[in-house]
Amino acid sequence: MAETLILPQTHDRQVIYDSLVPQIAALVDSEPDLIANLANSVAALKEAFGFFWIGFYLVKENQLVLGPFQGPIACTRISYGKGVCGTAWAKGKTIIVPDVDAFPGHIACSSASKSEIVLPVFNQAGDVIMVLDIDSDQLNDFSNVDAEGLARIAALLG
Ligand code: SME
Repeated sequence: MAETLILPQTHDRQVIYDSLVPQIAALVDSEPDLIANLANSVAALKEAFGFFWIGFYLVKENQLVLGPFQGPIACTRISYGKGVCGTAWAKGKTIIVPDVDAFPGHIACSSASKSEIVLPVFNQAGDVIMVLDIDSDQLNDFSNVDAEGLARIAALLG
């Protein structure tokens, strides 16, 4: 298994996702442990994009519980339907928040977070088993390019 990421020298996120997705696929295909795979996935995303905070929250009973992440310490538990993460879980849909201050009920783990994207991750039965949460310290930092690229990564992990 290659343990070094090879990343294109560009700021074009589409190009970066196209390079990253097969490398994460290769990493997770050879490892059955979920936590190990989540940990490497957030590390790869951090290295590729440098986002302020990247992490997984895992569905455990009726809450989301903090899983592997890269960035500053964060809230450990989020209730169903609460915040951006709990809303993405409840709706089973990706949510892009261009300005976190304009999202009713946003949970501010850090005042440095300005925009956010949260994707649900499904198991084969179609249940949400975790969410992938990425925070940026820039306003309006996420687009459909991120939603689609990250969905390809989420699909590798469910
Ligand atoms: N902002 C999230 C909480 C998690 S932190 O951003 C790491 C939310 O509103 O659900």
